[in-house]
Amino acid sequence: MTTMVHTRADLRAAMHTYAGELGVVMTMGALHDGHRELIRVARRRCEVTVVTVFLNPLQFAAGEDLSRYPQTLESDMVICTDEGVDVVFAPSVAEVYPLGEHPQVRVQAGPLGNVLEGASRPGHFDGVLTVVAKLLHLTGPDVAYFGQKDAQQLLLIRRMVQDLDFPVEVLAVPTVRDSDGLALSSRNGYLTEGDRSAALALSRSLAAGVGAAVEGPAAVRRAALAVLDAHPDVGLDYLALVEPATLLDVPADFFGTALLAVAAKVGTTRLIDNAVLEIGGAPVPVS
Ligand code: PAF
Repeated sequence: MTTMVHTRADLRAAMHTYAGELGVVMTMGALHDGHRELIRVARRRCEVTVVTVFLNPLQFAAGEDLSRYPQTLESDMVICTDEGVDVVFAPSVAEVYPLGEHPQVRVQAGPLGNVLEGASRPGHFDGVLTVVAKLLHLTGPDVAYFGQKDAQQLLLIRRMVQDLDFPVEVLAVPTVRDSDGLALSSRNGYLTEGDRSAALALSRSLAAGVGAAVEGPAAVRRAALAVLDAHPDVGLDYLALVEPATLLDVPADFFGTALLAVAAKVGTTRLIDNAVLEIGGAPVPVS
């Protein structure tokens, strides 16, 4: 049976009824098959699974899509029940930020939070890390599962957990894609039919980059950009080939594992995607 709770007190009471390894999957709701996969991976290992559903205002800047972000708690609950989740924690904003929506003390992401997504969305990762820290304290998991699609978020959560000694293991779950390659995202619901087909340029550019990995960084960038350049309806924000732990651009003579990350606006929707690739070695399929 899946129990839904909305307050810290009810969460604490519910958690007292469970024993065993606890896995948490944090979400902003509007659950899709990518979330299902996170839950399934968590359930394969953990005796108890908690899903948090909280649309965190702190990680949205003015003018971003907070007000139109899909909120579908009823169907989220159906998915969680279907997947055998034990507890769904769906708090209000006031429950998470009882002293006001703009907490004075926050987690600062630091330099890794100022590049790529952070350069386009200043303060975004401070908001993400602050709520993730709070939800880790509130749920007290042994393992927390995050999607590889948000590669920079995953890296920063790992850094926060290490730097601030959170007693939790952070595990990555590969990106789930539609059969045509589009990475699943709650924001895909904003896409018109035309947008959706234009949005395929992101995963196709990554696949082109992965295909050129044996030829080195310049070839990867060239191949990926060629796909994006052929789609003037896709407003490229960045295409970056970076070292996965530092997010610094890989040099021209780089060999080894790199992250190819892309962000673009399609219609009114900002989308991100990424692939991990082995530069100078055998191509790794887009995950
Ligand atoms: O990836 C998300 O859905 C959010 O950034 C997270 C981790 C749930 C924090 O609000």
